Amino acid sequence: MNIQLLISKKVSEAMILAGIPKINCEPQVRQTSTIKFGHYQVDGIICLAKKIGISSISLANDIINNLDLKGIATKVEVAGIGFINIFINIKWMEKQAKNMLILPKLGIESIHTQTIVLDYSSPNVAKEMHVGHLRSTIIGDTMARILEFLGHKVIRANHIGDWGTQFGMLIAFLKQDKNKSDVELLLKDLEDCYRKAKHYYEKDPLFAEKARSYVLKLQKGDQDCLVMWEKIVNISIEQNQKIYDRLNVTLSYKDIMGESKYNDMLPGIVDDLKMRGLAVKSRGAIVVILDEFKNKQGEAMGVIVQKKDGAYLYSTIDIACAKYRYEKLKADRIIYYTDSRQHQHLLQVWAIVKKAGYIPDHVSLEHHMFGMILDKNHNPFKTRSGDTIKLSHLLDEAFEKAYILVKNKNSNISNEEAQNIAESIGISAVKYSELSKNRMTDYVFNWDQMLTFEGNTALYMQYAYTRLLSIFRKSRIEVNLLDTEIIITNDKEHMLIMCILQFEEAVTQVANKGTPHIICNYLYNLTGKFSSFYESCPILNTKNQSIKYSRLQLSFLTSKVLFQCFNILGIKILNSM
Ligand code: ARG
Repeated sequence: MNIQLLISKKVSEAMILAGIPKINCEPQVRQTSTIKFGHYQVDGIICLAKKIGISSISLANDIINNLDLKGIATKVEVAGIGFINIFINIKWMEKQAKNMLILPKLGIESIHTQTIVLDYSSPNVAKEMHVGHLRSTIIGDTMARILEFLGHKVIRANHIGDWGTQFGMLIAFLKQDKNKSDVELLLKDLEDCYRKAKHYYEKDPLFAEKARSYVLKLQKGDQDCLVMWEKIVNISIEQNQKIYDRLNVTLSYKDIMGESKYNDMLPGIVDDLKMRGLAVKSRGAIVVILDEFKNKQGEAMGVIVQKKDGAYLYSTIDIACAKYRYEKLKADRIIYYTDSRQHQHLLQVWAIVKKAGYIPDHVSLEHHMFGMILDKNHNPFKTRSGDTIKLSHLLDEAFEKAYILVKNKNSNISNEEAQNIAESIGISAVKYSELSKNRMTDYVFNWDQMLTFEGNTALYMQYAYTRLLSIFRKSRIEVNLLDTEIIITNDKEHMLIMCILQFEEAVTQVANKGTPHIICNYLYNLTGKFSSFYESCPILNTKNQSIKYSRLQLSFLTSKVLFQCFNILGIKILNSM
């Protein structure tokens, strides 16, 4: 049940009945911060009243007089100079909670489902994944889970960087050294080769020339180059998959749709852009001039789609790829998860695909960008020697730190069990601390803050969940079979049930705005509401059986919602800690 949506609809109908022009009938309904103002409040009336030229209080009254919340609200009142406070009927809440318990997916219905392509993780091949890939991988994966949960068709697109200059360099380097191209390479060798190849590329013009010629050969489908390319790509993919599995991220081999996939489309795209008069020749290269993007000198910016030597670029591939996602994958919405530095690149690509008519306006193109990961001193998060931190090393460290924590807490535990728990809570801590921050801001990576049982952390949440499960074990009652009513008898229960009922609102908000931290805040809030309920409302020791059963069901519903939150965040749950 999405109460906010339900009330918005009702208020909107009331506004129309009150004679307000339809375009102004999109009310702002929000949850209140304190029960003093009811459960929901309608804002924006003061502004609207000014616009129409009447008093805000009389406008609010007009709306209330037409508002039909029979059964849903017990009191609706004008507050201040034109707010409307809505008090939800507790009986109605009890019924909705019962529905949530019985219906599949906690009563969330799939309406207006879309095909949504999520472009996330997308590391470049031939290098190990580093800490910079954490945000895209984890935020993107959570969004995939949430959108799928809401019933959308989600297409995961791991747009790996498996094409372009770096392969020219690598092939040129490996070819130089016959031994290297024949032996089995490991990713770390490959990284070493890449570093050396890059060095030659920058220092030796002849080598650079050769590397560029290999890029072209590869793009033209040269068999020999393709074999080497495939070998290099497979080494990386295999290594990355291990990280995805460890991170409990839903990406798999079948989700790989790398840059190379669009190679055959590129010549046609460039020709078509030329034919449409969008792309022109400029100093030997083919360029699309975009008047809406200006450089520092105030001149219109050009996006190169084909270089002088005939090679295509990152942008050309993204143009082809966007076209493919709409035409072939039938996307209604395409979301990109990369850091904010790629924002302009994406805006330019989108401007081109729209101008060329490859993607119609109703398809939503979104960049869910994010800030950087910083260290405690607010500097970019690097190793002591200033290198980027490899993701596998970071996860190892998470495991080690969690292992110490687990052993300190319980020295009797076997090493094997401690290892299992440590892997689970270590990874969860890293993921949760990432997800609980607003993605738009830079975020400070802090082991001490994430590996604690207090505050908005994975550990606190996982611990609260295992404690909650123990209630059902102790009760010796099949709580899921109880068919008695949920009855609210006091404030703590009231606060808890309201929070439970607001689950769908939180999920919907995340799905629309791409802000997983809202689900983390919700989870934290719900856990807090449950704790206060648990502290002041005896469950198993309650004499009155209907209250006991009601409380058991409230607890059970809480556990179901928590379980769902963990699921959509990709956080593993433990039966004991
Ligand atoms: N491979 C790129 C990088 O590591 C990210 C790709 C993002 N997706 C896209 N369609 N451009 O920066």
